[in-house]
Order: sequence, then structure tokens, then C-alpha cells
Amino acid sequence: SAKSVLRVLICDEMNPGPLDFEGFSIEYVPNMPREEILRRLPEFDALITRSRTRVDPELLNAGPNLRVVGRGGVGVDNIDLDAASRRGILVLNAPESNNVSAAELAVTHLMAAARGLTRSDASTRTGKWDRKFLGIELKDKTLGIVGLGRIGSIVATRAQGLRMKVVAYDPYIGDANFARLEVQRASSLAELLTSVDFLTVHTPLTEETSAMIGRDELAMLRPGAIVVNAARGGIVDEAALAEALHSGHLFAAGIDVFAEEPPAKDHPLLTAPNLGITAHLGANTFEAQERVGAEIVDRVLAALRGDVSRGA
Ligand code: MLT
Repeated sequence: SAKSVLRVLICDEMNPGPLDFEGFSIEYVPNMPREEILRRLPEFDALITRSRTRVDPELLNAGPNLRVVGRGGVGVDNIDLDAASRRGILVLNAPESNNVSAAELAVTHLMAAARGLTRSDASTRTGKWDRKFLGIELKDKTLGIVGLGRIGSIVATRAQGLRMKVVAYDPYIGDANFARLEVQRASSLAELLTSVDFLTVHTPLTEETSAMIGRDELAMLRPGAIVVNAARGGIVDEAALAEALHSGHLFAAGIDVFAEEPPAKDHPLLTAPNLGITAHLGANTFEAQERVGAEIVDRVLAALRGDVSRGA
């Protein structure tokens, strides 16, 4: 036959929208087991994942026809970018579609932590009626943000809506953005940590940011601080966070992500006090998933059509 269709595999749970595009055959298999991905990959020109699938050299090498890997989301830390580029495989993400949802979940964790939501929920279900607990008001407190990119900026505006003062540390963002957002710049991480009541991180996971908030950094926060990580597991060191909760140095924390997901049954954070946990749900809203699915399918098909090489 003259013209063959281009084949795309979506191997993680998402909302890919309509899949009937002329010239393409798109197969959606949510939560496809890794062995099956490895076995089926030779059939495909492109692969679309979320964070669940580790796109390492073994997986890339299993796809001799692979030209594009699409990440239905922002973070590409699950993809070995060097290995992909050595193979000439283009890696694309959906950088904006889920930003509001991610930011809203970070604010949710902050508010829940400040008011002891998960603690009161758990205690009330055991038959107790504990009204002695006192939370913390957010108004006039200072929120520290590490990473004033797309998501961190949205968190800043929401926090300002709650009448909080916002300080951020981000050496990659220019003064104009700080000024536009009316966010005060901390010139070092130490300066940020010693001047805030609450801390939230919104960076990608890189060598630079891995365990960026460790034991020493948590100790620099004022006693009674709150820490939120709805970005990537491991930016806030997990053992150090568990310790800071057990010791009572932190008032509370909120975590949406783990270094290894799902966390092991005996993970120290699962038994840490005053910690609200969600299962990597930052991007999981109806709205974000509809946008992310449409955006990543659109970008991957455009790349396969050659639009990217034409500079579109
Ligand atoms: C992201 O990086 O955008 C999130 O991990 C989204 C997701 O849950 O896939």
C-alpha cells in the first residue's frame, strides 16, 4: 500500500479525547503493564505517557520506530532525555494545561495543613470530638515559594487573594516577573527559609532540586512552619520531613508526591503526624485532564506530521 498510517500508543491513564485523526491510528491502553509496552512498542511511531511509565533506555530501545515521546503533563523527569536525544527521539510535554489544577492542590494542602483537616477527620471518625485543636490563620502570614515558574506564579496570586505576603526564591526568573506578580525576591534559599511562615515548592525534579529541602533547610524554617510539596517527590527530602513532623518542629505538612510512587507500605511519611497526603492528584481535575489529553495528542501528531521540523 502507498501510504501507511502513523501509529501512536497512549500507555497511561488520561483523557485523550477523540482518537480518530486521518492518517493516524491511536491506541489507548490505560495502565499498560511495562512488559506489554516493551513487547508492543515496535509497532508504534510515538508513545504518550504520564508519570507512571519510566521511559528509560530499555524502553526507548524497545521501540525501533519511535520518533516522538509525549508526556501528558509538565514534568519530564520520568523520561531519560539524554537517551532519547541520542536516539533522535523528540520529547514533548503539555507545559501549561494542568498548571491551575496543580496550583490549586498546593493551596488546598496549605489550607488543610493550617486547619488540621486530615487530623480532625481521622480523630472524629474514631468517635472522638476534639475541639481543642487550634489552627493557623493564613491572612498576613508569609508564604515562601521555591520556583516562581508557571505553577509557582499561580500559587502566588491565589495566596495573595488570601491576603498572604509572598516571597519567592528562583534564580531563573527575572525581576520583571517578580515585580509584575508583586512577589518579593529572596536572593538565596537560606534567606527564603528564614523569612517565611509556610513553604511550598514548585520546581521540576533535577539534580539541583533533588533533596533541595533537606534536614538543614527544614531546620532553618521557623518552628511551627508548614511545608507543602505538590511538585515532585524528593524535592523535600522524605526522611527529613518525617523527622521534622515527629519532632514537632513543623506544625504540619501536605504531600501530593513521593520519590517512589506508590510509596512502600513502611514509608516513614505514612506514619508521620500532622501530614495530609494525596496520591499525585495535582493534575487530576476534569478540566486539566481534558486540556492535557487534547494538548499532548495535538503536539505529538503535529510532530509526526513534520510540523515541528517546519518550525511550527
Ligand atoms: C505533571 O508533571 O504535569 C504531573 O505529574 C501530571 C500527572 O499527574 O501526570
